[in-house]
Amino acid sequence: MYNSLFAPLEIAGKLTLRNRLVMAPMTTVSGELDGAFSSEELDYLSLRAEDGIGLIMTPACFCHKSGHAFERQVGCHTDDLIRSLARCAEAINKHGAASFLQIHHGGNAARSEFSSQPPLAPSAVASRRGGNELPRELTENEIWMIIESFARAAGRAKQAGFAGIELHGANTYLFQQFFSPFTNKRTDKWGGDKVCATCREHHLHDSMSICGRLENRSRFAREVVKAVRSEVGPKYPICYRISPEEPDPDGYSTRDAIELLKMLIQDGIDMVHVSSWEYGKGVRNDYPPGSHPTRMIRDALPREIPVIGVGSIQTPDQAMKVLEDGIDLVALGRTLLLNHDWASKVRSGQTSSIKMTLASEEERQTLLVPPPMREYTRRSIPVS
Ligand SMILES: Cc1cc2nc3c(=O)[nH]c(=O)nc-3n(C[C@H](O)[C@H](O)[C@H](O)COP(=O)(O)O)c2cc1C
Repeated sequence: MYNSLFAPLEIAGKLTLRNRLVMAPMTTVSGELDGAFSSEELDYLSLRAEDGIGLIMTPACFCHKSGHAFERQVGCHTDDLIRSLARCAEAINKHGAASFLQIHHGGNAARSEFSSQPPLAPSAVASRRGGNELPRELTENEIWMIIESFARAAGRAKQAGFAGIELHGANTYLFQQFFSPFTNKRTDKWGGDKVCATCREHHLHDSMSICGRLENRSRFAREVVKAVRSEVGPKYPICYRISPEEPDPDGYSTRDAIELLKMLIQDGIDMVHVSSWEYGKGVRNDYPPGSHPTRMIRDALPREIPVIGVGSIQTPDQAMKVLEDGIDLVALGRTLLLNHDWASKVRSGQTSSIKMTLASEEERQTLLVPPPMREYTRRSIPVS
């Protein structure tokens, strides 16, 4: 009945996934003090791989110490961590799942208590996540240093045995801070506000702007992708995660995101992961009838680039609906925290035993996730 969820998928002739199920990247706040993966975290990832998920995204892993954003966040910023990365890749690969390292820089959401330096960002604009320090604007040299750190981190992932990498371009972190007119107020080639006065006067949409500012705001992501591609060679899969739109009317739209993705495909990405809290829901309401951001992106990109959909997908029927929309892969986040055995429950027809909610705080303590992560899920999985 749910056979399509278990059909293999080839990514750009580089890798074949055993099925369409992806574990969404989820920060566990459980790393070691030096940024290595803890054994609890490896067991947690390994358990979902063993259960039959096709592709496991690791939690966001910072590529440069200036990007360290969460307590006990895992890192991939030094060669000393290659052993830790190799243990993580092996914990996933040994069960036949594909392992992707999610590479991250927090930008204005980084915290000096972890990084020992003020946060760095395209412009001195505080994180929209709130509660963070005001960042300092990056110099040109620092921008190139961070681009290089993404490339080096990707090289480490490949050396460690990961099947691919995901660049964390979503959820308001550094890539998005460069692309967003809200957080990028630069006047050099790395930025530019929404559109120039002439474009605004003629009501030209950002993605059709004649002032080149969308191109400038895309430059950071493009340079990272080029640097990563040159580091890992032509055959290594690169996925780019993106938030498809920003809620504010002056933020970027899905049309703008599509322009960026088309450029990144030219530069070497193989796959796109459309980040969303609720699949199928948009916030802008400027989509063609019957569409939504993830479908718009799928429809606009070449067919050979697989697209991952995500967001509040809990049942196999909901997952099937995503595939029926033409989306290639379905990522599951919180439902895999509640159900480490989601894939085998679906395969064996025990779908009624899929846990949808948490009944009590006591039950939270029984989740098969690293213990510090249980506390961390209080906001994202409330007791109901
Ligand atoms: C505890 C938690 C940690 C998360 N950490 C990350 C992360 O490290 N990187 C990322 O791109 N998204 C992260 N997310 C977002 C998820 O990948 C996913 O997009 C979101 O949870 C929606 O999917 P879901 O409804 O299936 O959980 C996190 C979400 C949760 C709940």
